[in-house]
Amino acid sequence: MLLFRKEGLLKEGKVNIKKIAIAGAGTMGYSMAEIFAARGYEVTLYNHRASTLEKAKTKIAPETVNRIAYTTAMGEFAGKDLIVECIAENMDLKLAFYKELSEIVDDETIIATNTSGLSINKLASAVKKPDRFLGMHWFNPPTLIPLIEIIRNDQTRGDVAQAIYDLSVAIGKKPAIVNKDVPGFAANRIQLAVLREVCSMVEDGVISKEGADAVMKYGLGFRWACLGPLETVDFGGIDTFFHISEYLIPDLEDSHDVPKILADAYQAGNYGVKTGKGFYDYSGDKAKEVTKSRDEKLQKIYDALYKK
Ligand SMILES: NC(=O)c1ccc[n+]([C@@H]2O[C@H](COP(=O)([O-])OP(=O)(O)OC[C@H]3O[C@@H](n4cnc5c(N)ncnc54)[C@H](O)[C@@H]3O)[C@@H](O)[C@H]2O)c1
Repeated sequence: MLLFRKEGLLKEGKVNIKKIAIAGAGTMGYSMAEIFAARGYEVTLYNHRASTLEKAKTKIAPETVNRIAYTTAMGEFAGKDLIVECIAENMDLKLAFYKELSEIVDDETIIATNTSGLSINKLASAVKKPDRFLGMHWFNPPTLIPLIEIIRNDQTRGDVAQAIYDLSVAIGKKPAIVNKDVPGFAANRIQLAVLREVCSMVEDGVISKEGADAVMKYGLGFRWACLGPLETVDFGGIDTFFHISEYLIPDLEDSHDVPKILADAYQAGNYGVKTGKGFYDYSGDKAKEVTKSRDEKLQKIYDALYKK
């Protein structure tokens, strides 16, 4: 605790982050600004284009929209406790942004990136204080998914990671700290391991697309909403999973190529809901309908498991 006080991050055991700036007002940024502002933090939402800020205002809840300051001026990043960078997923853009930012921010400011997978160590090379830099990876839609991955670079201080952990808890999120900057962090490594096996089984005709999705939605995924994979093993029995592992692990897909059905859909320009076709059809009004249905179901799961 003494260390925290000395570092000025935690005071009397409480997270001392009050002034937060979000850089980038796109899909993720405006939503994060809304979440922090609704919880009483002093929030500034920055975007280099004013039109994006105007669009963001139309998406933020009316009771919160006026609690946020909106700016196109980089100078507004001065004096903040935390900056969450949420600009486009491009290494060069982010590095250039941090170089400019470093001239403006205070030495005490924590800078967090919402990158989906760019190296936190490489991004850290462009900031003045890499020990106060880390990943704060939110999930879409940020208002509904509880998880925030907190990724340390090789220099991130423990108390900085802890401060972001505590802040995440304070805004009602369920954070997990990733101690090493590995590609995909933790969540995408797990997600892609599952996706590789699913694609392999669908390609081999072991199961249909619908069947594979049903296995996850009504079985594994349903259970994983309240028990992680390791907790699941504890309930099923380590002995049982040991024996299953002995015969099954050698048979699992271990290709290092992008799965064929994923690459084929990509080459055909079928990107999913946003283009009206992916593994399934979303033409006409279907895209809107499935998005609404997804959000309603996620809200119900959230309410059932976490609403106080
Ligand atoms: N969309 C998702 O599902 C998702 C989920 C988790 C993480 N992320 C990550 O969050 C970050 C933002 O993603 P998004 O989906 O909100 O992107 P987006 O394209 O919707 O928004 C990015 C915004 O940043 C703005 N911007 C501000 N300053 C900029 C600058 N100097 N250079 C470039 N753009 C600038 C752009 O105008 C744009 O509005 C990315 O790193 C992305 O990988 C996205």
